[in-house]
Amino acid sequence: TILVLDFGSQYTHLITRRLRELNVYCEMLPCTQKVADLPFKPKGVILSGGPYSVYWDDAPHVDPAVFDLNVPLLGICYGLQEIAWHHGKNVLAGEKREYGHAYLKIERHTGKEAHIERLFQDLQDDMEVWMSHGDKLSHLPDSFVTIATTNNAPFAGIAHTKKDYYGIQFHPEVTHTKGGTVLLKNFAVDICKAKQDWTMGKFVDQEIARIRALVGEKGQVIGAVSGGVDSTVAAKLMKEAIGDRFHAVLVDNGVLRLNEAETVKKTLGEHLGINLTVVDASELFLGRLKGVTDDPEKKRKIIGNTFIEVFQDEAKKIAKAAANSPMAGEIEWLLQGTLYPDVIESISFKGPSQTIKTHHNVGGLLKGMHLKLIEPLRELFKDEVRALGANLGIPENLIWRHPFPGPGIAIRILGEVTPEQVRIAREADYIFIEEIQAAGLYRKISQAFAALLPVKAVGVMGDKRVHDQIIALRAVETSDFMTADWYPFDGEFLKRVSRRIVNEVTGVCRVVYDVTSKPPGTIEME
Ligand code: XMP
Repeated sequence: TILVLDFGSQYTHLITRRLRELNVYCEMLPCTQKVADLPFKPKGVILSGGPYSVYWDDAPHVDPAVFDLNVPLLGICYGLQEIAWHHGKNVLAGEKREYGHAYLKIERHTGKEAHIERLFQDLQDDMEVWMSHGDKLSHLPDSFVTIATTNNAPFAGIAHTKKDYYGIQFHPEVTHTKGGTVLLKNFAVDICKAKQDWTMGKFVDQEIARIRALVGEKGQVIGAVSGGVDSTVAAKLMKEAIGDRFHAVLVDNGVLRLNEAETVKKTLGEHLGINLTVVDASELFLGRLKGVTDDPEKKRKIIGNTFIEVFQDEAKKIAKAAANSPMAGEIEWLLQGTLYPDVIESISFKGPSQTIKTHHNVGGLLKGMHLKLIEPLRELFKDEVRALGANLGIPENLIWRHPFPGPGIAIRILGEVTPEQVRIAREADYIFIEEIQAAGLYRKISQAFAALLPVKAVGVMGDKRVHDQIIALRAVETSDFMTADWYPFDGEFLKRVSRRIVNEVTGVCRVVYDVTSKPPGTIEME
């Protein structure tokens, strides 16, 4: 195991991710972790970057016993300064902060000192690296030598001449640092001798063991599923760990995709064997959405609050039944499919609790229910969740499903959401997605849907004048959903989709394609 001690940098999780890509097992703990309490003996320790200055009175510092572990150390950015600080308090505020690309020159050492540049083996003498720091070393600590420099940082890389201690001012974990993964491999595999035998299969075993230990022999867990990738993978993992003591709930809010509740019942319930309850609350939701015409935020609020209400009612029922069942445990836990990008703050050393954005989002749920959160995906990135899903036997088409917003097609029906508007939007959306799949474009496109405009246009169908609604198609490519480009379909494809929608969906006489990027548009229309 490589131990990653987190000083709160926005990049710390990328270190663990890169190590996982190298099949090296690692654990991330807060930088204040006491060495005596470590549940394992690490083969090496990485000190991450962080937003502090080591010379501040309240700056975080590692347990000095880290330096008695007798294992290799790698300090990255703040981590380098922390190592230097420990060896003689020699860090200063730099005259200028340095962010972005820099050219690193590696200083090769030969003869008796050749070993100290093992960190840079298999790398060019010149490397493009990513910097993000304000402080710098004033001079080299005793027994250290320089192994790399940049124009701005004379101590961009340092190494201890006798021990395997290394410090680098740049971030090898970000993709902007060319060769960063080679450097991390040099450290973890060659210097620390960590094994490259960590696989997704092992992650599954380990997570299952962790969930079992956390929940106990009788404890029960409840969680909402949506039919999307994240909640399905999380649910399947729970099923593998505790079987039917995990209770999945799908709330049919009346604004799911066409046939969605049925499809989820089949895939999650029947195919994946998850203990699933589908609650049909569509009438309640649609009743409350009635008359809401021009305020998308109000739609979101109504749907969010009604969801909490319905989910809690169902949870109470399940809890009651569970308490009377032979398993006789109480429902103590709430499953959340939170991924790492949803976690705004990294594990905070300022307190024992881990502060997460989603805690606030489910605050309403937790308050009424006294449930503890279980988040088995919170350290994973989306592509890792997909790999995990594949490992758990989740069907390919589900793993690659486009994201679907919680408020469903209610925010794709501009204007009032009525059962008739839902029907039109659903049918058009179904055809659009079917055609995208048939054209082999589904995986190329990040998100696609049909939206329904609340205005009418004139058309002519079968010699008759019609006055019907307009469907707007939207399809985007994006890597992070923060910015997006509309997808350049060819004309034949659009012609086919348009023809089918107008012919097959009653109430639509025109189809338009949204050619707005994000920004200035958003991906959803409301
Ligand atoms: P926008 O429209 O903000 O969408 O560009 C970015 C991504 O977020 C999704 N989205 C939502 N997801 N509840 C959700 O669960 C919402 O209220 C919501 N609004 C937008 C959207 O589908 C896209 O993937």
